[in-house]
Amino acid sequence: MSPAGRSRKDRLPLFRDYPQLATRLPHVSLADVPTPVEKMEAVGAAIGLAGLYIKRDDLSGELYGGNKVRKLEFLFGKIMGTRAKEVITFGFAGSNHALATAIYARQLGLKCSSLLMSQVNAHYVRQNLLASHHYGARLCHYPNLALLSLATGGQLLRSWIRHGALPRLIPAGGSCPLGILGYVNAALELRDQIARNDLPEPDLIYVPLGSMGTAAGLMIGLKAAGMKTRVLPVRVIEEQMASPKRMLRLIRQTVALLATLDPSFPPLTFSDEELCIRNDCIGEGYAQFTAEGVKAADLMKREAGIPMNGAYSAKAFAALVGDAAAGVLTGKRVLFWNTYNSRDLSAVAAGTDYRTLPGGFHRYFEDEVQPLDKGQGSRKGTP
Ligand SMILES: Cc1ncc(COP(=O)(O)O)c(C=O)c1O
Repeated sequence: MSPAGRSRKDRLPLFRDYPQLATRLPHVSLADVPTPVEKMEAVGAAIGLAGLYIKRDDLSGELYGGNKVRKLEFLFGKIMGTRAKEVITFGFAGSNHALATAIYARQLGLKCSSLLMSQVNAHYVRQNLLASHHYGARLCHYPNLALLSLATGGQLLRSWIRHGALPRLIPAGGSCPLGILGYVNAALELRDQIARNDLPEPDLIYVPLGSMGTAAGLMIGLKAAGMKTRVLPVRVIEEQMASPKRMLRLIRQTVALLATLDPSFPPLTFSDEELCIRNDCIGEGYAQFTAEGVKAADLMKREAGIPMNGAYSAKAFAALVGDAAAGVLTGKRVLFWNTYNSRDLSAVAAGTDYRTLPGGFHRYFEDEVQPLDKGQGSRKGTP
């Protein structure tokens, strides 16, 4: 990353295409971009799909990659322009977003609190909690959203009384219009890679759908770039959190933000049919691994050495593998957008004793992990 997160706006196609955005949008550089695109020869051969490519957003950050870094560049950009010293963010106990926020907040000299809700146990949950703690996040555990919301109010009030200042809130997954700009930019980055012949224009992009920012940003950016590529968001969270209606609202808000800041941004509209969300890969529920996901993750690890996450990327990749087996991808060029970090955090996790975490989190280390979890997403030797 650039020194102390200073912005290098010239590197972002979004700012090159829409120069007014560059003057109006604060930004800090955290990501190693452009992330590579690679042809997946061995994986493609294994699933009978010659035109398979991968976008390596797992390498998007030196300390921690994955799909949160691009969003945080814009979210922290705004926060760094204020006098705020602390951020609060939200998620489930094993949130990759909360970990990314903790790591990059520290890099920027900000305090970070993560208010986290309970979830089904997995190895990656343990690793993320230990790493967040290591990177200085204050972790708080709540059994449900109602209690988390109450606690957020309490924390804001306490900060106001104690310091006369409010911490900045970063929404779950970083998926507000400002954060989504990171993925509008990512789609334009892909366009430039196609123009450089790094890959042919894909027919389809498979991506996991959680807080929806990644897929929403890609759809906006691809359309703004005049590309025909379709995004296939694979829902990995319950429908009340990720529905076409909610996604359309996020897309409209993001397009409105862009058009307000730079009137030359096209007034894009999206039909319901364009938001073709895949609903058949979530299995039993959020973060509950599926047999298809585990198998797809094993294949990716064996043939390409890339770790997957049973809650997110493994389910999206399983959708792709299933579609290839069903023959619906024959002759198509398909891009798998890899959203899960592949930087090795095992040493960080191994050096942290879980008993130093708040008591509410100990159960993730003392209870069994779910039966299908064989340590996916964590490295050998991590808890
Ligand atoms: C590894 C990974 N992939 C995909 C997603 C989903 O992205 P989004 O929340 O932008 O829909 C997440 C969200 O937390 C994630 O952690």
